[in-house]
Amino acid sequence: MSRLWTSARSSHDSNADPYPLGPGSRVAVVGGGPAGCFFCYFLLEMASRIGLDLNVDVYEPKTYAQAGPAGCNMCGGVISESLVQYLGAEGIVLRSDVVQRGIDSYVLHMDVGSVRFPTPGQEKRIAAVHRGLGPRGLLTHRWASFDGYLLDLAESRGARVIHERVDSIDWVAGKPRVSTKSGQQEVYDLLAAAVGVNGAGIKLFEGLGVGYLPPKTTKTYICEFPLGEEVIEKHFGNSMHVFLLDVPRLEFAAIIPKGQHVTIVLLGDSIDKTLVTNFLDSPEVRRCFPANFVIPEEHCRCFPSINIKGSPRPYGDRLVFIGDCGENRLYKDGIGGGYRAAKAAARTAVFEGVSSDSFRRYYAPTCRAMAVDNAIGKVVFMVTGLFKKFTWARRGMMRMVAVEQYSGTAKRRMSDVLWDTFTGSASYRSVFQRTLHPLFLVLLVWNCLAALRHAGPVHREEEDSMKLGELGRIYRSGETIVRQGEVGDHMYVIQSGKVEVVRESDTGQVKLAELEEGDFFGEMALFDRDVRSATVRPLGEARVLTIDKKMFLRKIHEDPSLAFRVMEKMSRRIRELDEQVTGLFTPSA
Ligand code: CMP
Repeated sequence: MSRLWTSARSSHDSNADPYPLGPGSRVAVVGGGPAGCFFCYFLLEMASRIGLDLNVDVYEPKTYAQAGPAGCNMCGGVISESLVQYLGAEGIVLRSDVVQRGIDSYVLHMDVGSVRFPTPGQEKRIAAVHRGLGPRGLLTHRWASFDGYLLDLAESRGARVIHERVDSIDWVAGKPRVSTKSGQQEVYDLLAAAVGVNGAGIKLFEGLGVGYLPPKTTKTYICEFPLGEEVIEKHFGNSMHVFLLDVPRLEFAAIIPKGQHVTIVLLGDSIDKTLVTNFLDSPEVRRCFPANFVIPEEHCRCFPSINIKGSPRPYGDRLVFIGDCGENRLYKDGIGGGYRAAKAAARTAVFEGVSSDSFRRYYAPTCRAMAVDNAIGKVVFMVTGLFKKFTWARRGMMRMVAVEQYSGTAKRRMSDVLWDTFTGSASYRSVFQRTLHPLFLVLLVWNCLAALRHAGPVHREEEDSMKLGELGRIYRSGETIVRQGEVGDHMYVIQSGKVEVVRESDTGQVKLAELEEGDFFGEMALFDRDVRSATVRPLGEARVLTIDKKMFLRKIHEDPSLAFRVMEKMSRRIRELDEQVTGLFTPSA
């Protein structure tokens, strides 16, 4: 394995990184949250592709097996639509005991009414999870921790998990040395810090003399109310509830239904108890809860910090900061931001080297892209804040959404803009560009004028037979997922069950393959821009996640390694076909 690696590196030019990772190099990851775990996962995955054996230790004192603060990473626990799709394409299927609820819509609440937005294709494409085992006082342990699941994933790739608190970090002969509370000391070739911005971890790096400046942060508020499955089902369903209220200092608020709890997340300026009380007492919020609901005395709540302006230089020689302690997305999709940064840092470490110069050239652009997008996000939130202030503007926005949702023919302009802003499913740049479209502006003005005379959204509920933690959509016998000869705009990842791929002709049909959980199909029409080459049907019941062509191809341009799995699969299919063809033409003895 390592011989292959050595020959690959020997052809490097004189600009080669002074600190490349080599066979047996040691990497420490401090912090086993999503950013740290994704880093381990992709570092080991990419290294194994070039035959490079690495030793990766991840330090995480939490076990994620305890309910309450001890096993929690203080976060709303929403895995965005785009991240669910990227993970699907990476071959990471989120288990249904980790996903507490598959979210298929969100409801926007304002004082002028509320309206429900379904996901495209009415599919469950957002995952509501608990980062730890669950809130304080959790009685039933039906679900697993999301962070625990990712830590297991990193371990299954070959990372060694050390359940210890890192006490200090210093430098020995130009290499980082990690010391733990129990006195263990280890020297590494690379240290990846994924310590977040809450807790003492970030302090380990402030006085290290490597020029690290921590990110600017703001306080958020998160609390969890135990309501029970039945009440949640009746009052919140599988929708994320988003509030645009004219409450002073409140930027954004959401209620996320989980298995037996709902999670409330508030973002804003100097969030304090008064702001929280004003929000919870507002009629729009009260309406969501049962009439007799009283806030329980004992419930989990916290005021965690989030990153609002990243660290100016989240790297150094043999050192890289990922996730919240480096750069992350503003307000939304922090786990998706951690995934992006982790992958870019892993790519740099494996293919370029771990010097400050390599991180500056190959990792910093990913951080900068997020920082630029966050600056645009600030403008988006500022404009949304202005809209919140004027009743006619709120009515106009609501009317435009209602018309789009219930006419069945109108293009979802405002709906998609709000969907992407609130769920973090697209970049703020893309959201902003769409709001500058002349037709968008004309329709908005028209709806604001029309709303001065009349307003009133309609509600509609769809039937749902899927279980709580299942993502995607269920297809049953007799249905066709992909039809041969049709034009295709999606690729699919099987979440559970099996499908068959058949090739139809005038003389009958031939079964080409049976595919199962984790396999994908429908990729050929995306890549060769031809019609579907075969028909795909479920064998019994199959749960399938749809991946949007535009989202997928755009992401591949940013991160070509996302296409690797598809290429791997396609080349395996060619090998199988080669064997079959050879079998057909080889004369039997
Ligand atoms: P696409 O052509 O977009 O739609 C039909 C899908 O069937 C195709 O993409 C592949 O994903 C899948 N498919 C076609 N041929 C085979 C094969 N030989 N083995 C497995 N899957 C296939």
